[in-house]
Amino acid sequence: MEIKDEKLYYIGGVVRDELLGKKSFDIDLTYDGDAISFAKNIKDAEILRINEPFGTVKIKYNNEEIDIASTRSEIYPQKGHLPVVEKIGCSLKEDVLRRDFTINAMAKSTLTGEIIDYTGGLEDIKNKKLRVLHDNSFIDDPTRIVRALKFSVRFGFDLDEHTQKLQESYLANINYDMSYKRLQKELKETFDLNIWAAFDKFVEQKIYKLLALQDFSLPSYDFSKLIEEYKPENIWIIYIGLLPEISNLPLTKAEVKIVEAYNAISLSSDAEDYEVYKTFKNIPIESVIMYSVKNSKLVENYLSKLKDIELQISGNDIQSLGIAPSEKYQQCFDYVLKEKISSPNMKFEDEISLAREFFSIN
Ligand code: CTP
Repeated sequence: MEIKDEKLYYIGGVVRDELLGKKSFDIDLTYDGDAISFAKNIKDAEILRINEPFGTVKIKYNNEEIDIASTRSEIYPQKGHLPVVEKIGCSLKEDVLRRDFTINAMAKSTLTGEIIDYTGGLEDIKNKKLRVLHDNSFIDDPTRIVRALKFSVRFGFDLDEHTQKLQESYLANINYDMSYKRLQKELKETFDLNIWAAFDKFVEQKIYKLLALQDFSLPSYDFSKLIEEYKPENIWIIYIGLLPEISNLPLTKAEVKIVEAYNAISLSSDAEDYEVYKTFKNIPIESVIMYSVKNSKLVENYLSKLKDIELQISGNDIQSLGIAPSEKYQQCFDYVLKEKISSPNMKFEDEISLAREFFSIN
């Protein structure tokens, strides 16, 4: 980013990440004043989009797309929902005071590199602490409780004592009229990290109460290694889907399917391999991994030994044996499959022999 101006600042996550020596996902810039007029006056910049009510602008400069926000203050007329803009072009200090934690409330001058730290973010970075900026922070925006969890596991930080108390007091008196869409975004970002300690804290600190009124205890089996090994597409739902109540979340169809398939699994603890295979083969791998909290041995055995077993014979092969298509085909496949599951190295010819045996062909 080559635009430099005495009123243009890097702000929030990017400043925090640089101080922590971490790579930032996106670069947020704030202009101390009206970003839109500022952008219009940048020589050789192309304005791509203007969002007047928010005072933000997207420009193209030297082939790079850059977002610039105006400093703004916000209020929460409806607690737990999106804030509304109070003033655009407020002071930089007012802008940082609307933010979540001190570590996210620092600005860095694009011109001099000076760090502007009104709230003690530098000190908190040094002490690895997450501290809210005011006592109503979680009441205004309870998604910040999940954000704190996310940052704590991402950076190895703890809540400072007072912030911890504010969290406890909010969780003891939750206002369930909140934006679950926003909450879900934070839950997804947190649990997609696949860090078991996040789930541990989520349960131990009773953060799950934001979703579920019933009590919930931490499963004794840590499935993060299974997730690492089998790389399911949809990680967060493996964690959150275990909660007794998630109907408030605006899940996608695929996520709903994963949770429903998990809830429908019915297997006895001494189920045979064939039954395990039949149960798990046609459901999403996420649901299978979820089931490891109920029976990890069964799931590990399925994933490591049974998952990839497939029959090589097809309907055409049976037809070639002179058998007319009927529902017997499926019975034959099941018969061969049962054998193959106990002898996975079976060859095509062995499968044909078993099919012949099934139809009593000599
Ligand atoms: N913010 C906030 N309250 C929220 C969400 C965001 O105060 N519920 C503020 C924080 O100051 C944050 C900034 O908005 O730094 C940008 O939010 P976001 O992009 O979600 O977070 P980052 O801090 O950039 O973190 P990440 O690295 O996870 O993107």
